Amino acid sequence: MSESPGGSRATDHEGKAMRAAMYDRFGPASVLTVVEQPEPAMQDLMIEVVASSVNPKDTFVRKGRFKHQAGARFPKGTGYDFAGIVTDSRVDDMPVGTPVFGMLSGWQGRAAADLVSCRRQEAVPAPRSLPLVDAAAIPLAGLTALQALRDNASLKAGQSVLINGASGGVGTYAIQIAKAFGAEVTAVSSSASLEHCRRLGADHTHDYGHGRLPAGQRYDAVFDVFGNLSRGEVSDALKRTGRHVTTVPSAANIAATALTRLLPQRTSLVVVHPDHDDLRELSRFVQDGALVPEVQQRYPLTDVAAAHAHVESKHTRGKVLLVN
Ligand SMILES: NC(=O)c1ccc[n+]([C@@H]2O[C@H](COP(=O)([O-])OP(=O)(O)OC[C@H]3O[C@@H](n4cnc5c(N)ncnc54)[C@H](OP(=O)(O)O)[C@@H]3O)[C@@H](O)[C@H]2O)c1
Repeated sequence: MSESPGGSRATDHEGKAMRAAMYDRFGPASVLTVVEQPEPAMQDLMIEVVASSVNPKDTFVRKGRFKHQAGARFPKGTGYDFAGIVTDSRVDDMPVGTPVFGMLSGWQGRAAADLVSCRRQEAVPAPRSLPLVDAAAIPLAGLTALQALRDNASLKAGQSVLINGASGGVGTYAIQIAKAFGAEVTAVSSSASLEHCRRLGADHTHDYGHGRLPAGQRYDAVFDVFGNLSRGEVSDALKRTGRHVTTVPSAANIAATALTRLLPQRTSLVVVHPDHDDLRELSRFVQDGALVPEVQQRYPLTDVAAAHAHVESKHTRGKVLLVN
């Protein structure tokens, strides 16, 4: 054990190996394997990971959909969300031993590993009211829901919001955060997930098997998490000054964002980013009992390929975790 300037240090990592989920070419989930890797270079925090979570972003990057952003250097790691214990720190308010959770920025996932190194703004102390493993289910999807509803939709108490894709990772947080904001929530999901959405707090539910949207209703905001609604469909479901928020950076959504920028009824794309204050806000929601992560399945790190395949089913209810 040794001390580092401006921080604290519990263990010497240099020269040791750790396990990490890696792949050496773009492809299906089967390209993933868990291998021994050198420990990562220290940034502001070194964290012994207890769990990470799988997001659709992990599967898209692995398949090569974001080659331009992720680059073509291999091997690549995977995983953006993590929860764990600080083992080395240059951050005063997160010394060695602090349980933390967070999200890596950029396109080089590497949280599905025994150790992850990150910058200060990518992690905060984990909520004490939750098992640390479950905190890994929150960051990327929770931040997306918070940033979309607060910043893109400007959702206020008393307003109404429809959430399409409400039972998945982002959607389950969106239901709970919209309720915490005091909004009236309509959740759209398959019939099998309607009860789940109601349990999370949705005031109204709609089965997309009976038409993509409820007929004859208008909302202050439509959050299209799943991303299959056309601008025309959304327009018919919005009030005159309603906001349409989408997660999908398709050409149509990017064009709609530009074309409606100055109109009363706007489309915008949420682009999630790790943010210290927002992670703290999510932690406060958890502490207050307003936000509970829904974990559908926990896989051991060694089953990373199965966990990716689960998320690729597009019917995950809540989140999928990789537990170390
Ligand atoms: N732009 C950004 O910054 C950003 C950030 C986060 C996520 N995203 C994107 O947002 C999307 C959702 O992410 P996620 O983490 O919530 O994914 P997820 O957990 O895989 O979402 C799965 C959910 O989609 C629902 N679904 C499947 N088919 C549907 C349909 N036809 N209509 C409505 N819902 C349907 C499923 O509900 P049922 O099982 O009930 O069918 C399931 O609950 C992904 O494309 C992801 O890449 C973008």
